[in-house]
Amino acid sequence: MADEGPYRELLPSNVSTEFDRLDQQTRALTSMMGGHNFVTDISSLAARGDDTSPFQAIEVGAGTGLRTAVLARQIAPSDANAKIYGVDLSPIPALHEQPPTVSFVQGNIMDLATGPSARFPPATFDFLTSRMLGVAITDWPAYLRTSFDLLKPGGRIELQEACFGWYDASSAELSQDWRWMHVMRKAGPKLGLDFWGPRKFPAQLRECGFVDVEVRTFKWLISPEDDEEIARYTANVLHPTFVGLLGRVVETSGLGLGELEGLGGVEGVKGDYLETVGRAPKETYCDFWVVMARKP
Ligand SMILES: C[S@@+](CC[C@H](N)C(=O)[O-])C[C@H]1O[C@@H](n2cnc3c(N)ncnc32)[C@H](O)[C@@H]1O
Repeated sequence: MADEGPYRELLPSNVSTEFDRLDQQTRALTSMMGGHNFVTDISSLAARGDDTSPFQAIEVGAGTGLRTAVLARQIAPSDANAKIYGVDLSPIPALHEQPPTVSFVQGNIMDLATGPSARFPPATFDFLTSRMLGVAITDWPAYLRTSFDLLKPGGRIELQEACFGWYDASSAELSQDWRWMHVMRKAGPKLGLDFWGPRKFPAQLRECGFVDVEVRTFKWLISPEDDEEIARYTANVLHPTFVGLLGRVVETSGLGLGELEGLGGVEGVKGDYLETVGRAPKETYCDFWVVMARKP
């Protein structure tokens, strides 16, 4: 069995409040990406399918299945034989109407993709995507190698992840001296998490053998002064969730008081987070990375 990592301890799973938050986040991210869920041209990719080898796609860490449904709707019009899978550690709730091409599978992708009884053998998929697995994946190179193996030759991957680092409108970094960020720098490695992981994706993808690596970044606005949907979601919904996440990261990482930047314990770290993001000026953003590549 593959290690499930610290995910279940850090974020609530399989509860309606978290499902609601994930759906609100999906809507806000879609708005941030100009009304799109994917940068990859899904419709052209779907043309790869034929009668002998139907188009197959997988969303890893599908959460509520909302984005899986969108993916399936983009593909199904051109290929009714397509097969779209949503995989998650937790059962995927029946919250969204799914096209008949969709199947959900509960499990850890690393178990489902490896070993003699693997549910998904190598070279199964034309498209593999995942989003916001940053507090779940403890070994990105292994995850990317597994993704490479799961794809057919010519198949494509699209990773979507937020990257730590907050910038003002002139792209000057504001978060350099935020003390809670220094705490995260120490806590992340203790849990096997890399909050700056997306910066390494291009090199890691090439190391696996991927080609045509492409990066697009979107500005994830966080200031309460901004009137974009993503900023409203962040201020009203994400900050309260994130502050709880930070507390659990600190607690589960086992950092001592001496490593908490003089913030006086978990409550001090949470307070510092709320204070810094609360005074973030208009147009403060972090980068949301969309990294795409092709298996030759
Ligand atoms: C933060 S949620 C994001 C959900 C969805 N991707 C979204 O953007 O709305 C991360 C999801 O990934 C799932 N997950 C984490 N590690 C996984 C793994 N190794 N295999 C399958 N699912 C995983 C979690 O159970 C959780 O539902």
